[in-house]
Amino acid sequence: MQRAKISVIGAGNVGATCAHWAAAKELGDVVLLDIPDREGVAKGKALDLACCGPIERFDCKVIGTADYKDIAGSEVVILTAGLPRKPGMSRDDLIETNVKIVRSVSEKIAEFAPRAKVIVVSNPLDAMVYTAWKVTGFATNQVVGQAGALDVARYRAFLAMEIGCSIEDISALLLGGHGDDMVPLPRLTSVHGVPVTDLLPAEKITACVERAKAGGGEIVKLMGTSAYYAPASGSVQMAEAIIKDKKRIIPSAAYCGKEFGVGGYFVGVPAVLGAGGVEKVVEFKLTAEEQKLFNESASHVKDLVAVVQKMFPDLA
Ligand code: NAI
Ligand code: 2OP
Repeated sequence: MQRAKISVIGAGNVGATCAHWAAAKELGDVVLLDIPDREGVAKGKALDLACCGPIERFDCKVIGTADYKDIAGSEVVILTAGLPRKPGMSRDDLIETNVKIVRSVSEKIAEFAPRAKVIVVSNPLDAMVYTAWKVTGFATNQVVGQAGALDVARYRAFLAMEIGCSIEDISALLLGGHGDDMVPLPRLTSVHGVPVTDLLPAEKITACVERAKAGGGEIVKLMGTSAYYAPASGSVQMAEAIIKDKKRIIPSAAYCGKEFGVGGYFVGVPAVLGAGGVEKVVEFKLTAEEQKLFNESASHVKDLVAVVQKMFPDLA
């Protein structure tokens, strides 16, 4: 049986860490691609990772390149190319530069890996997923954004720290855009089936929710650049679900037509990820308050897409 191929575009912090997790999980052969000026970085990191194989016991190949021919035949492409934010910047400040980068990369993905499922990571995430979808011309199931996998992991990690339980037992969900207005759902958060609302006072849950919302910013402030371990871990969790056809439900920036009343945008919702990419958006009834918060978050996503369309009218 031929091994799967996972290509990661952008050999920076998130991209190289995606390659690391993908190789360590032996998901398939890994291609790490960057611009020609950084081909040496891509090749060097790939070679370094390949040398972990004997220790970590993976047989998959890891190559670095600046040549898009190497991504041909990829099952999954993880798109991490783009500037990260610096202290004091919001994700939205990156929009103009990153649309240009994501556009140029997406054209190449459409040309060289037309059957790949594309997991977009570059920020501002919700606008970049839209850009990649528009430029590739791919079906809506073939393009998805990574944000919810990370945001929910942060939320679960903070709850586990607060409760003093295993993170494995925390089941949680959140909705909306990858921004400070994402919508956690404490009502649907449990510790091995026990509602979190029975285990923690409301103010402690709210503190975990707020910390998850601002989790990216907290890390940027501490280390001067954007997080990458958990973002890459979330991206590879999605890649694994697709490559192994696991049909996992993972919060993802997926295309929503009528679902949740969104009306044709990529927004964070629970999505079934399998060999078909986004196989289904799992819709469920929100309370009036949750729907209100979700609508506010979705309207921020719509505003971002409108900014892209105004800057680049051909992407409308
Ligand atoms: P980084 O600066 O470490 O790496 C970015 C890489 O992209 C660099 O190696 C750069 O040479 C490469 N690149 C730039 N233009 C390119 C092009 N046209 N083709 C191929 N490669 C190109 O940045 P980092 O920390 O890896 O972040 C990458 C992106 O991911 C940023 O936009 C960041 O905001 C975003 N991000 C998103 C998260 C999410 O949850 N969705 C979480 C963390 C970061
Ligand atoms: C994060 O949430 C910056 O989107 C990135 O860490």
